[in-house]
Amino acid sequence: MRRKFVAGNWKMNKTISEARQLITELLLALKPLEDIDRAVCPPATALPIAARLLEGTGVGLGAQNMYWQENGAYTGELSPRMVAELCQYVIIGHSERRQYFGETDETVNLKVKAALTHGLTPIVCIGESLEENRAGKTAEVVSRQTREGLADLTPEEGARLVIAYEPVWAIGTGLAATAEDANAIHRDVVRPALTEMFGDEVAQGIRIQYGGSVTPENAAGFFSQSDIDGALVGGASLKAESFAAIARAAAGA
Ligand code: PGA
Repeated sequence: MRRKFVAGNWKMNKTISEARQLITELLLALKPLEDIDRAVCPPATALPIAARLLEGTGVGLGAQNMYWQENGAYTGELSPRMVAELCQYVIIGHSERRQYFGETDETVNLKVKAALTHGLTPIVCIGESLEENRAGKTAEVVSRQTREGLADLTPEEGARLVIAYEPVWAIGTGLAATAEDANAIHRDVVRPALTEMFGDEVAQGIRIQYGGSVTPENAAGFFSQSDIDGALVGGASLKAESFAAIARAAAGA
């Protein structure tokens, strides 16, 4: 049985004081939900306060991105060690990073390796664009992103991954994939690719989250599916009540 995992991707939202407020509210609501894994991923400036507030609560902390080099002349970047000082998780290869900041399967792969080396759990994002979806290329794109983004990892490293399938056309649009369609991608495309790379036992243990317009209203439908093991939540993670409602749906699934 894979333990459900719900993570909030705050994106470029919340100042330090706003983050303090949201986390304080969230902790009350998330605390009882100990049967699932829960995490928030605030912007980098709010990570230190978030780390202090979350310490010992069982709610995890993730960064939204990091660079793969250890240190040096990389203005504006955060190193894996800097992230690992504060976080347990790091989102890698979000479609917004791929779309606006030039990330590729190759840079995703470098970042995933760096995260694993530093004891972080990478939440590796994959997902097809609207154009690719319309052209019938979803399986091909998602399969390629999985294989190339996760290339050259050992099965032991594979076992430490979390994957988030986020169709780009569903992110922030209010147009979520149907639970059945998302599950079909998880079950018939992503998990078989993971099986080929890491073997069946490891692949069966890897959590595959769905992301893209997850709401309190549609969450339970996703979590009732065989291969949807949680959610990466954007917009609905910015309010304590809606994120907590999604987490409760996961805990009840
Ligand atoms: P959304 O974003 O829930 O606002 O669609 C999801 C994500 O980008 O992780």
